[in-house]
Amino acid sequence: MENIQAVHNGKFDFLDNIKISPLSRAYTFSDSVYEVIPFFKSNIIAYDKHIERLKKSCAALSFVIDANYIENEILELINKIGFENGYVYYQISRGVDPIRSHMFDNKLSIETFGYVVEHSFSPQKIKVMICEDLRWQRCDIKSTSLLGNVMSMNQAKDKGCGEVIMHKENIITEGGASNVFFTDNDCVYTPSLSSNILPGITRDLLINKLKEAGIKVEEGKYSLDNLLKSKSIWLTSSTKGLALVTHIIDYDLQLDLENIIFKKCETIFRDNFLS
Ligand code: PDD
Repeated sequence: MENIQAVHNGKFDFLDNIKISPLSRAYTFSDSVYEVIPFFKSNIIAYDKHIERLKKSCAALSFVIDANYIENEILELINKIGFENGYVYYQISRGVDPIRSHMFDNKLSIETFGYVVEHSFSPQKIKVMICEDLRWQRCDIKSTSLLGNVMSMNQAKDKGCGEVIMHKENIITEGGASNVFFTDNDCVYTPSLSSNILPGITRDLLINKLKEAGIKVEEGKYSLDNLLKSKSIWLTSSTKGLALVTHIIDYDLQLDLENIIFKKCETIFRDNFLS
């Protein structure tokens, strides 16, 4: 990990040099929220939407933040680097406890941490495992409490997969680190927003651009059966863009890897955000 530009509580340094207290509530309780903010050809993709979601995550946990301070840190990180394509990881925690306690002191000072890395945004194809969604009931908060995602994604990794598609009592929620889309060649479907999924920014950008292009998009409650009957499935995230699902393990599914609707969606997304 050499020469990765980072920031901690306003102090810019290389990632290796940053020291964080073990009593940071990010460390003891995952009492922290984060964003992954992509930039391509030095343009930040949907910057305002990322900042807005970060503010919402903070508000949900009653973190009192100075938005200008945070935005300065994020923008300064991007200004410091010598590459054009990458992303900023940026995390805000409730702060450092004098002693570990579930019940926090309202006077704690917010702790910020971020770093910036290069990323290629090249098209991805992924093999996926379907699994039960093990997570808590506030997945709409972009919290660093990600153990359900971590457990399922590593089970998937052991089976040769790069992602999971999760369902709660047979209703599709999202990927381990992405939102889910699928098509029957007539319409594009994606689970509607709820406290069970993260309101993905790539999801939002894609839906809007598809509608503008006259492609039918429906947001709703979809069963595993709906998903398994589809022609093409893909996942969206700030780092993956649109990633085509090539196989779903343990299911004998004939996915159309040359699907015309997926190709249209990919082209629309690339033309608008990655070109
Ligand atoms: N994850 N759902 C989950 C659970 C995610 O972790 C992510 C992104 C998404 C897609 O959100 P967006 O389009 O705003 O990136 C959906 C990021 C990339 C991560 O944790 O690394």
